[in-house]
Amino acid sequence: MSYGMIATWRMACDGIAAATQALAEGGSSQKAIVDAIKMVEDYPFYKSVGYGGLPNEVGMVELDAAFMNGDNFDIGAVAGSRSVKNPIVVAEKLSHERFNSFLVGDGVAKYAIKEGFELQNMLTERAKKTWQNRLEEIRHSNLSPYDGHDTVGMVALDQTGSMSCGTSSSGLFMKKEGRVGDSPLSGSGFYVDSEIGGATATGLGEDLMKGCLSYETVRLMGTGMHPQAAVQQATMDFAKRLERRKGKCGAFSLVAMNNQGEWGVATNVEFSFAVATDQLAPTIYLAYPAEDGGNPQIEVASQEWLDAYQARITAPIK
Ligand code: GLY
Repeated sequence: MSYGMIATWRMACDGIAAATQALAEGGSSQKAIVDAIKMVEDYPFYKSVGYGGLPNEVGMVELDAAFMNGDNFDIGAVAGSRSVKNPIVVAEKLSHERFNSFLVGDGVAKYAIKEGFELQNMLTERAKKTWQNRLEEIRHSNLSPYDGHDTVGMVALDQTGSMSCGTSSSGLFMKKEGRVGDSPLSGSGFYVDSEIGGATATGLGEDLMKGCLSYETVRLMGTGMHPQAAVQQATMDFAKRLERRKGKCGAFSLVAMNNQGEWGVATNVEFSFAVATDQLAPTIYLAYPAEDGGNPQIEVASQEWLDAYQARITAPIK
């Protein structure tokens, strides 16, 4: 039976490489999602997820995360989590709760303490410096304070045919205290049904949640569409509608996988993503939006691109 994972951004690749190895050995999609996202959350140089994530406008890291089990539709989610070391682990645990499965703010920490999960100061010196520099830039020029919102989102299929998905994000850099993006919202940031497939999103949450694009992608796959056709139609149709009715549309990038391990991606900005299946070794791709609104151009990331990426994310911050 097929197995595989697809995930947003280059940062997901090490996690999905390890997790698909576990899938090859019979591991579950649920564990694959949690283990792979946990790896991203723990790496301090990924500045948009977990430890080292960029803070809100008052210098505080507030994290959003969600987990969904495609077998039974169980969902757990956290928003505005300030002190939990691994929001995805808490989200997965919450997915088993009949009630109170989506917690915010202090409620997340209280639940985590009760359940014995680790707490941690999530603000790194590096993230603090980036925040201070941004404050200076805004003070001296007329820039928008808002910048960057790279969510890690993953979909996994295991050898039993079970599917799961998850997201984790520090959300929009310099966001207002209490601001919540699409990442913990079912249907917007993620959705999965083991009888069909799953999808997950990264981009501007305020616009992604207007279109419930992850749910729409899964719904279209359920009509028999290939994941590429489904995610392309869901994403670009809505992007066009939003542009027509509001005059603008934020960044939208979605990845999808069906329960056969086939996959697709749609984006209106340049975007990296990672895929690993029983047919494909872990691979990082770059996707470029097509000018005519058709399928994005996809290419394997070059070593040069990967080296430049690593140098950029670990470069000293003055
Ligand atoms: N897509 C992440 C956010 O807007 O918070």
